[in-house]
Amino acid sequence: MKIIVTGGAGFIGGNFVHYMLDKHPEDIIICLDKLTYAGNMETLADVMDNPNFKFVKADIADRDAVYSLFEEEKPDIIVNFAAESHVDRSIDNPGIFLQTNVIGTGVLLDACRKYGIKRYHQVSTDEVYGDLPLDRPDLFFTEETPLHTSSPYSASKASADLLVMAYHRTFGLPATISRCSNNYGPYHFPEKLIPLMIANVLNGKPVPVYGKGENVRDWLYVEDHCSAIDLIIRNGRVGEVYNIGGHNERTNLEVVRTVLAELGKGDEMITYVTDRPGHDRRYAIDPTKMHNELGWLPQTKFDDGIKKTVKWYLEHRDWWEHIISGDYQNYYQNMYGDREHKFEK
Ligand code: NAD
Ligand code: DAU
Repeated sequence: MKIIVTGGAGFIGGNFVHYMLDKHPEDIIICLDKLTYAGNMETLADVMDNPNFKFVKADIADRDAVYSLFEEEKPDIIVNFAAESHVDRSIDNPGIFLQTNVIGTGVLLDACRKYGIKRYHQVSTDEVYGDLPLDRPDLFFTEETPLHTSSPYSASKASADLLVMAYHRTFGLPATISRCSNNYGPYHFPEKLIPLMIANVLNGKPVPVYGKGENVRDWLYVEDHCSAIDLIIRNGRVGEVYNIGGHNERTNLEVVRTVLAELGKGDEMITYVTDRPGHDRRYAIDPTKMHNELGWLPQTKFDDGIKKTVKWYLEHRDWWEHIISGDYQNYYQNMYGDREHKFEK
């Protein structure tokens, strides 16, 4: 099989490239990535010499570039991870989210129609379902939960999902969609909660918690997400949506305290800052369909996953220090600077 992995220089896509090259040495993996601020060639350094791997720098919204790649490579499967992925950035500047997440997905779908493929897989998110109330622990997102988005990011991801389903129904494109909960693990960009927290603590900086830290996320170790997608592209039914999650809900404060404890720190490192506008309260995935249809179950327990993740960041300081020493400084100042009056020293 020849598989194009878009966004493979990012967090989950990068983990997926590693996972696939290890698990399926018979497959050819082509990574197509624009290398935005979130794309990092250091994530792919150890696979660049693998004869089954190829890297192509291109924008998924660049029709000419995408078409010529399809013409040249004649891929069997496309797995689309490429996206603008950070909610806070989408609140700051929504335009690029529409361009990449919606227009870019549309270009990939057109290329699939034009050149023919065996499977198109769209990596979506549980955020397309909006949020659940904090006082209804009995409620979960199923594949039938209506789309009900909150942020420009989630709206752009839901729009892309609708396009994928439209291409399946109207043109018979063999497509699947997965909607996963929050991932954590190696190569996670340090603008997201868990890696930001680790980098800040290791640099002696406070950990910013939005609002009261009561919002709930459903955390999954990234390798479990990769194994789920691998199953879907091989055995999943076309035209279907699959929810991916491990029933691992935690408040942000619980997550922060777990990570701080792993780093030998406590609440003294926490600083409460102004909340995210429109902040989704709770995400909680019902993964029954993944289990019943494809036999998938997550393998990594949260406490073990956090230990592995902290260890990885301690052992790969170069990887994240290169990121936070560059343009990231401007981002951090822009995002957190005017919240500083709320920081407890
Ligand atoms: P990321 O921001 O770490 O990586 C995104 C990658 O896409 C980067 O390598 C970037 O260079 C590339 N990219 C961005 N715009 C591009 C474009 N126009 N053309 C080509 N490449 C482009 O994101 P992530 O956290 O790894 O998320 C990957 C996918 O998984 C996204 O679609 C996201 O919506 C989805 N998702 C993420 C999570 C999570 O917890 N991180 C959970 C569920 C779903
Ligand atoms: O649920 C899947 C989604 O998970 C993906 O679709 C997104 O791409 C991914 O970024 C993630 O979105 P979140 O907004 O949940 O992740 P983030 O790491 O930005 O925030 C996690 C929670 O922590 C959220 O409730 C906001 C809060 N937070 C975040 C940051 C960056 C803080 O309290 N402080 C922070 O500094």
